[in-house]
Amino acid sequence: MTGGHLPVLLHEVLRVLGPQAGEVAVDATVGLGGHAAEIARRIAPGGTLLGTDLDPGNLASAGRRIGSPAGVRLVLVHENFAALPRALAEAGLDAADVVLADLGVASPHLDDPARGFSYRKPGPLDMRLDPTRGRTAAELLATIPEPELARALQDLGDEEDADAVAREIVARRARAPIETTEDLVLAVCRAREFTLVRAAGAKLHPAARTFQALRMLVNREIPNLERLLAALPHVLRPGGRAAVLSFHSGEDRLVKRAFREGLETGLYSGGSDEPIRPSAEESRRNPRARAAKLRWVRRAPMAGAAEAG
Ligand SMILES: C[S@@+](CC[C@H](N)C(=O)[O-])C[C@H]1O[C@@H](n2cnc3c(N)ncnc32)[C@H](O)[C@@H]1O
Repeated sequence: MTGGHLPVLLHEVLRVLGPQAGEVAVDATVGLGGHAAEIARRIAPGGTLLGTDLDPGNLASAGRRIGSPAGVRLVLVHENFAALPRALAEAGLDAADVVLADLGVASPHLDDPARGFSYRKPGPLDMRLDPTRGRTAAELLATIPEPELARALQDLGDEEDADAVAREIVARRARAPIETTEDLVLAVCRAREFTLVRAAGAKLHPAARTFQALRMLVNREIPNLERLLAALPHVLRPGGRAAVLSFHSGEDRLVKRAFREGLETGLYSGGSDEPIRPSAEESRRNPRARAAKLRWVRRAPMAGAAEAG
């Protein structure tokens, strides 16, 4: 996966969001500023761009990439998108015309061994998107009950050997803490009966699904997305547009369901029936794009009946 250097489905995101001069746009996962830089150009003059990210380092990169487009107020805040209503209020904004969320990690997370996201790079088992707070993956693995771990590996990673991997991790931590990416790779390889040589040559590394599940657990990615989806109808102005790019089947299911329910209850008045997928050409240029699914909705012009209740 790579992050914001090549923003995924950029033209499609801009088409469905249709940012206009003077509008308030939110990039809830501003990352390296790839999408945001283009959105900023389109809301000039008179627009405001609010960018949030859990990672302060990425916010700094986004600031450099976006620069200071003439006539745009740029507000970048270190905030979880689950708290989007608060971030808007603190920026003095009552609502947004455009909201984008491009879920997951950015390239610096995977490239920097010290962040502990990559099964291919030795490093501390950290995996926090926000390195300033919260439990690391090592701390989580030290105490999580075996059944809970097995369920997370199954649900978040689609790991077919979830029970065996959880059992091996719990057996190992009784002898010594699992503190590094290498410790975890060894545990998974043992549980799944892979040698390290065979693992290195495998099409899908045997620890890939475990690393993904653990990352999603450490960063509470599903609960955060649920909160964002619940807040969206309330932060969008009538006629406002929201788009979510997801890379995980469980996340896409949540987005699909929330958008469909909003359409049925009249909160939304339009959106995508089917997800927009990258072209073969984009997937070739940018491997991260391959799994991408883009869904979007438009806030109903008038408050829907369901909102009154
Ligand atoms: C795929 S990258 C975004 C790339 C960006 N669209 C670009 O073009 O540069 C996802 C970003 O979302 C951030 N992120 C993930 N979960 C978040 C959350 N709950 N709240 C805020 N930011 C989050 C990550 O730290 C990462 O920087």
